[in-house]
Amino acid sequence: MYPLLRSFLFTQDAEWSHDFTIKSLKKLQGGPLECLFRQHVPAKPVNLFGIDFKNPVGLAAGLDKNGECIDAFAAMGFGFIEVGTVTPRPQPGNDKPRIFRLPEAHAIINRMGFNNKGVDYLVEQVKKSRYDGVLGINIGKNKDTPNEDGKNDYLTCLEKVYPHASYITVNISSPNTPGLRNLQYGEALDELLGAIKEKQALLNQQHGAYKPVLVKIAPDMDDNEVAQVANSLIQNEIDGVIATNTTLARDKVKHLQHGDEMGGLSGMPVRTQSTHVVSELKKLLDGKMPIVGVGGINSSESANEKIKSGADLLQVYTGFIYRGPNLIKEIVQGLE
Ligand SMILES: Cc1cc2nc3c(=O)[nH]c(=O)nc-3n(C[C@H](O)[C@H](O)[C@H](O)COP(=O)(O)O)c2cc1C
Repeated sequence: MYPLLRSFLFTQDAEWSHDFTIKSLKKLQGGPLECLFRQHVPAKPVNLFGIDFKNPVGLAAGLDKNGECIDAFAAMGFGFIEVGTVTPRPQPGNDKPRIFRLPEAHAIINRMGFNNKGVDYLVEQVKKSRYDGVLGINIGKNKDTPNEDGKNDYLTCLEKVYPHASYITVNISSPNTPGLRNLQYGEALDELLGAIKEKQALLNQQHGAYKPVLVKIAPDMDDNEVAQVANSLIQNEIDGVIATNTTLARDKVKHLQHGDEMGGLSGMPVRTQSTHVVSELKKLLDGKMPIVGVGGINSSESANEKIKSGADLLQVYTGFIYRGPNLIKEIVQGLE
């Protein structure tokens, strides 16, 4: 059924298709027509961070930014769902158009810029959902918060989402919020992670529940920079790492229509770069924290490649847009 829906959606503007899909899923979830997208995915349980996952295939952040379709994505059989990126205050994001499909490359370029309805709205949606599986909430900073105050935005979001999340992702790797990626380096990174760990300890006491904090990083780092990030993650006792976000590289798509649009490139062209970061992290972290592999997974083969390179869990976004819910089943069934 998805190939038919996709052939319609792909004749429409990319953001219109996204909004239409989210609105439809929101309406249909929990009702009799949920059978249109509900599927059985065989169990492949994994336990990481002290959390039980039904299977290791998750929905990556950015598709359900406001947490409005959690029950719908659960019905599709994801082993875990990550919502967000959410910021303390609602914000409109960048001017449209801001999502572009590159079908020849099974890719997307986006410069959404954290458009979202704010953390309070997201928390309301999470409370409304009936999902009892693993839920990650991905947090960021508002565009108009000066970088030097960015830390406070993360702490505000952390405090508000903490009781409602299975884990929290600190997103410092979106290329579409000016200056955000600077938080991945040196003192800025240590200061942010230190403050987050301190807050996590306080919230743990307050709620009597430890919620793991993961950090999501960019693929556009050389090995030396990855080593510095890994070192900082270890020093600050971060619970896990998500590798990777979208890339600024364009070498594989510059000849294609939309190939030179500004923003982050995702899908097949980022696969090798993301896998490389995963394998570097595997060596550097030496089992000290789990790695979530994301970037260009669109088949059983590309999923197994990430796992062989060191990923403990997987996430999909662009591959899911191109392949639909069947991709989840295909990956889980084909896990080696
Ligand atoms: C349209 C779009 C919006 C995204 N928004 C976010 C976001 O808000 N937060 C985030 O951490 N990652 C975001 N991402 C990145 C994805 O979660 C993922 O890390 C990246 O696309 C690589 O995986 P993929 O090749 O499977 O798409 C977005 C990706 C796309 C295509």
